[in-house]
Amino acid sequence: MLLQNLSHKLWKCSLINVSNLVKIRYLDYHNYSKKIEEVVNIQIQAEQQAAQDYLHLAVSFLHPSKSFLGAGGFFLNMYKEELDHMQKLIQYQLLRGGYPNICGLKSPYKNKNVNLLNAFKQSLYMEIEITKLLEQGIEIAEGVKDYHYAEFITSAFLSEQIKSIHEISNHVTRLTSLGNNQHAQYHYDWKLAKMYPYSNKI
Ligand SMILES: [Fe+2]
Repeated sequence: MLLQNLSHKLWKCSLINVSNLVKIRYLDYHNYSKKIEEVVNIQIQAEQQAAQDYLHLAVSFLHPSKSFLGAGGFFLNMYKEELDHMQKLIQYQLLRGGYPNICGLKSPYKNKNVNLLNAFKQSLYMEIEITKLLEQGIEIAEGVKDYHYAEFITSAFLSEQIKSIHEISNHVTRLTSLGNNQHAQYHYDWKLAKMYPYSNKI
């Protein structure tokens, strides 16, 4: 009888615990605010969009009518990096208990007269905008005391962004100095191809 009472009490107790657990939202449990969940989703979409825009630039240069394989290789590399960033953010969202929002993208900016200089200028603009978005995310995270997200973005993204902006700025400066010299542009692309080789093996 005593044992029966005890087991009944334990059963009641476990029910109370379960109902309390149900009341706790997963996001609360992880101290993860809706604001940061939204910030991460905006960043996921921005990285996904950047990946697609870089892929568009890459194929513009890889097409036989242009055949700037160095630039093609460079922008393909950027495409892969953006995809990697997107995946990191999706993993982060899942780690914190948020829901990654995978949504449709805008069609890429189509520049019919794309050349090396304006492609690198576009890339510089994209990287600066992505960096601003990351920095805004850090500010919001600090505002809601989510130091983990602020630290994650600072350590996993910001240094890479600064290096990327530095490298692309150098390309813009050098390509500006080449002007319309086709021969010089051919050599510039040839040097790029050594750093970012493109293989069309299928
Ligand atoms: Fe990125």
